Amino acid sequence: MLTLHAVRCHYRKIEAIKGISLTVHQKSICCLIGANGAGKSTTLMAISGIKRITSGEIRFQDRPIHRVSPEVIVKSGIVQVPEGRRIFPHLTVKENLSLGAYLRRDKQGIRHSTTRVFDLFPVLRERQEQLGGTLSGGEQQMLAIARALMGTPRMLLLDEPSLGLAPLVVERIMNIIQTIRDDDGLTILLVEQNAQAALELSDYGYVIETGEVVLQDKACDLLEDPKVKEAYLG
Ligand SMILES: Nc1ncnc2c1ncn2[C@@H]1O[C@H](COP(=O)(O)OP(=O)(O)OP(=O)(O)O)[C@@H](O)[C@H]1O
Ligand SMILES: [Mg+2]
Repeated sequence: MLTLHAVRCHYRKIEAIKGISLTVHQKSICCLIGANGAGKSTTLMAISGIKRITSGEIRFQDRPIHRVSPEVIVKSGIVQVPEGRRIFPHLTVKENLSLGAYLRRDKQGIRHSTTRVFDLFPVLRERQEQLGGTLSGGEQQMLAIARALMGTPRMLLLDEPSLGLAPLVVERIMNIIQTIRDDDGLTILLVEQNAQAALELSDYGYVIETGEVVLQDKACDLLEDPKVKEAYLG
């Protein structure tokens, strides 16, 4: 469904990604794990078209997308939930969700999606009129995911959804990611520093160090890998 081939990205003269190749199969959950500064967010931004790549190729559903604008990439079905849950703090939950549907004109479809995200996140239904900025950290993360789902993506790019959340909330978020794959048929690319939670949820994983893939395998095998255990699992 999504493939990166030898993708390189620079910030001025610094090479942040040094030839990353990876594949995410349809309706799978794939994770990128790695330390701070490894290049995980840059990889997601390259996919969503926010960061231009220096060389290499990114294909989505067999079409090259690395020269396409972020808006067209969203329209093609890839939606990113950025790091640090960038919701609009001065808008209500409902208004935040409406913004997630900004490219859509089908009112009935939008109503249907709203019902679906409220079923996935009942707490958001209760807090429709509350300002985004007054939600708890976990609720803001849920709102950020819910807003992305309002765009009816085929593929979701999630950048550290568990960051700063209590273990119980992390578990709930991971369960919901699994549900949207299982029940809604989405394909998921998940970036996480919480390697344990990410690998438990994923089908396949890539370990990224200083802009390169150093290890890749089925997630269940990475969980047992001595190198992964030592460097990334507590
Ligand atoms: N806007 C930018 N300008 C210059 N350098 C950048 C910029 N964004 C990222 N970098 C650099 O690119 C490298 C990769 O950063 P990136 O944000 O992709 O890492 P990451 O794996 O997401 O890290 P983290 O886990 O801390 O979020 C780092 O060395 C970082 O300093
Ligand atoms: Mg990052």
